[in-house]
Amino acid sequence: MKLILVGFMGSGKTTVGNLLAQKLGLPYHDLDDVIVETAGKSIKQIFADDGEPAFRQLEHDALKASLADDGILGTGGGTPIQAANFELLKASDVPVVLLDVMPETIIARLKNDTDRPLAQQLGLHGLVDLKGQRDTLYQQVSDFRIATDDLTPLEVVDAISQEG
Ligand code: S3P
Repeated sequence: MKLILVGFMGSGKTTVGNLLAQKLGLPYHDLDDVIVETAGKSIKQIFADDGEPAFRQLEHDALKASLADDGILGTGGGTPIQAANFELLKASDVPVVLLDVMPETIIARLKNDTDRPLAQQLGLHGLVDLKGQRDTLYQQVSDFRIATDDLTPLEVVDAISQEG
């Protein structure tokens, strides 16, 4: 990979990753899509049928396999939180960019979400708590952070290009 995006659900990893990949003429890989393809079912269905630990194992396998590919990688919001994944990301020499979002932005973006199992399980306040629990790890795993709340996806892409 040339660059890895991390950040909470709703931080714009997929949108920004696709735009950045287009700009650089590189493929975009979304870790959630790799997992869905491998499992042959949606993330929601994996959580429902097999449980979160099974999802986390698939996520770890997908991360390990994807790191060798070329392009931009968008991770899932929980990817860097698993210790083995944190180690893989830290050990790779690929720049890891944190797309950061404020709680208000998460609430606005996820309030009508029906696809993310954790959003259903935890509710909006639970999600904000979860982000608080994860923030330190997001910061530790990343090489730089972009506050995305007041930026359009294209402005985020420009901000990443300037850093890189
Ligand atoms: C998760 C984030 C989701 C997806 C799964 C779990 C998390 O990815 O991997 O629902 O634990 O934060 P997005 O961040 O792309 O929504």
